[in-house]
Amino acid sequence: MNIVILAAGQGKRMYSDRPKVLHSLAGKALAAHVVDTARALSPRRLCIVYGHGGDAVRAALDAPDLSWVLQEPQLGTGHAVRQALPFLDGQGTTLVLYGDVPLIRVETLQRLIHAATGGVAVLTVELADAQGYGRIVRDSAGSIARIVEQKDASAEERSIREINTGIMALPTERLGEWLGRLSSDNAQREYYLTDVVGMAVEAGLPVRAARPEHEWEVLGVNSQAQLAELERIAQRALAEKLMEQGVRLADPARIDVRGELRCGRDVAIDVNCVFEGRVVLDDAVEIGPNCILKDARIGAGTRLAAFTHIEDAAVGVGGRIGPFARLRPGAELAEDVHVGNFVEIKKSTIAAHSKANHLAYIGDATIGRRVNIGAGTITCNYDGANKHRTVIEDDAFIGSDTQLVAPVTVGRGATLGAGTTLTKDAPPDSLTVSRVKQASIPGWKRPVKFRGQKTEDRGQ
Ligand code: UD1
Ligand code: CA
Repeated sequence: MNIVILAAGQGKRMYSDRPKVLHSLAGKALAAHVVDTARALSPRRLCIVYGHGGDAVRAALDAPDLSWVLQEPQLGTGHAVRQALPFLDGQGTTLVLYGDVPLIRVETLQRLIHAATGGVAVLTVELADAQGYGRIVRDSAGSIARIVEQKDASAEERSIREINTGIMALPTERLGEWLGRLSSDNAQREYYLTDVVGMAVEAGLPVRAARPEHEWEVLGVNSQAQLAELERIAQRALAEKLMEQGVRLADPARIDVRGELRCGRDVAIDVNCVFEGRVVLDDAVEIGPNCILKDARIGAGTRLAAFTHIEDAAVGVGGRIGPFARLRPGAELAEDVHVGNFVEIKKSTIAAHSKANHLAYIGDATIGRRVNIGAGTITCNYDGANKHRTVIEDDAFIGSDTQLVAPVTVGRGATLGAGTTLTKDAPPDSLTVSRVKQASIPGWKRPVKFRGQKTEDRGQ
């Protein structure tokens, strides 16, 4: 089997400099959805017909299993498939897909391919409003006779509600002849792929229709409004799938998965969470509202409170994170680590049972077990030119409002007094404090404002 994905159209109505098929749906380019679906059918050859300005498409999607076919100029869908012919395996079925119809399902295509046995199969749907589409013309016996484009159709043909979705399965050995016979003598001066249907009927081959299970599978993207509509459909389908797997969603209409989200058992996700890239939530993870997770792994039983933001980071088993916590790339938390509000962690490992509950910046640090990081602690990791590491060993206690000027090490069991600016290593099991000694001046009077004095007298 061959698959040809048509993606040479310009997509003018997107009003965007980005090629249409590279617009993102559920975190993935439109055409990448189609390519992935095509791959699931294990075709012998997988061709993408791309057009002028399509180098970005090629660069974004290129892979060893794809053949790229430039169609220039673009003279219609029949012309597009003809350009791909030299790249196809001469036998079997050729399946035509559209790069801007991203939600087509593998099961539907399998049925279409089956329907094409010994002939041609067209994926069709009946629409209340068929405006703009090619219509399926059937003979008196109800068999498909041909497809007529909207612009070429008579008034009577325009009243037909069964339309061509554009997705077809064709016998490859016949394609060369049929495509060679196409004419552009029609309302749009294009070579219509749809005209091969009439040719198949003429040749006495069966032409069958297959139907998608859901109408949304065949929706195309031509505008930002349609893209947004398909995004909602895709998200709803992803939410349904998660719930089928046992994930508890507070509201399936208020979750966005822009990539791959894998969940264990008894995972609960509150409203307005966004998952990007690859995210894994192990068993019994609970995600509070408004959390954003990108390329993250969350260990079993961990709770993320509201507004937690995690990117390229891992949280261990039984963690307590947030609200308003930020784990940046390279943050790796072991089991039972607590990270509270307004704590930012970057490129740091934190061993089991350690806590940073309020207002801290931890960057380029290695933190041991059972460490307590007080409020306002800052690892001063950057000297303006280079980054340096901070090491805090097991059981250390870092008092509030402490600056650790890296590179610096806090020894095992050490305590840093509040307000310390640590510039040298703190020895283990000792108190280190860099505070100015506290003093009190008895009876000290606050300054008062002068009254009735002339300006020039003041300050003498
Ligand atoms: C086509 C069908 C029509 C069907 C409709 C479904 C033909 C002649 N008409 O209409 O029966 O109802 O799709 O949406 O096939 N493309 C190319 N090269 C070209 C022209 C198009 O690669 O020269 C690609 C486009 O990028 C797009 C697809 O083919 O992915 C369909 O093109 P489009 O112009 O949207 O379809 P229509 O001709 O309107
Ligand atoms: Ca201070």
